[in-house]
Amino acid sequence: MKFYIETPRLILRDFQESDLDSFYELDSDPLVHTYLGNNPVLDKNQALETIYKVQKQYEEFGIGRWSTIEKSSGNFIGWSGLKFLNEDWAKYTNQYDVGYRLMPKYWGKGYATEASLAALEFGFTTLKLKEIIGTANIENKASIRVLEKCGLKHIEAFKWKDIDCYCLKITKEDWESQQI
Ligand SMILES: CC(C)(COP(=O)(O)OP(=O)(O)OC[C@H]1O[C@@H](n2cnc3c(N)ncnc32)[C@H](O)[C@@H]1OP(=O)(O)O)[C@@H](O)C(=O)NCCC(=O)NCCS
Repeated sequence: MKFYIETPRLILRDFQESDLDSFYELDSDPLVHTYLGNNPVLDKNQALETIYKVQKQYEEFGIGRWSTIEKSSGNFIGWSGLKFLNEDWAKYTNQYDVGYRLMPKYWGKGYATEASLAALEFGFTTLKLKEIIGTANIENKASIRVLEKCGLKHIEAFKWKDIDCYCLKITKEDWESQQI
């Protein structure tokens, strides 16, 4: 399944095997995994398996995270977008989640927010979802801030493994009311 969405500074598209080297650079970086359970991938095969897994999600559920490309450089900067939580995932199974994971050199430029706003639009207009959640380690202030900037509201705290997390949510009505 192909996806291609443009924002002012980014291209959001389906994962491709040719992303492997950059994807491995992203997902093997311990800094990136600070609030994700500190479990970076150890070899390229693991990274390739993730690419295949997401490609399978596209076919099964019509959605999955997107490779995120910086227009000005053409570089893969990480991933962003929506995921259908089909696996047993805390108590949010069967919901749609907005998320992101970027290489540190691209942090602090507003990219996660820009990509996530596009993902919400896709979710509410193309997929016709009624609500979208986002979750983050409560210590992951940057991630929580991204969700807040996109209009998600705090719902509750919960535990993922031993990690304290927040769940935030936006409904289609709330999203529509924040469109100009
Ligand atoms: C979370 C992440 C995607 C954010 O990406 P980003 O492109 O830097 O995010 P943005 O620039 O769109 O927005 C970040 C916001 O958080 C704020 N922020 C960053 N660090 C912060 C901190 N330590 N405390 C409070 N706010 C912080 C920024 O100031 C900005 O808010 P502002 O625009 O109001 O100033 C990036 O840090 C990342 O990839 N981290 C590793 C993977 C990860 O943790 N993913 C999320 C899993 S839930």
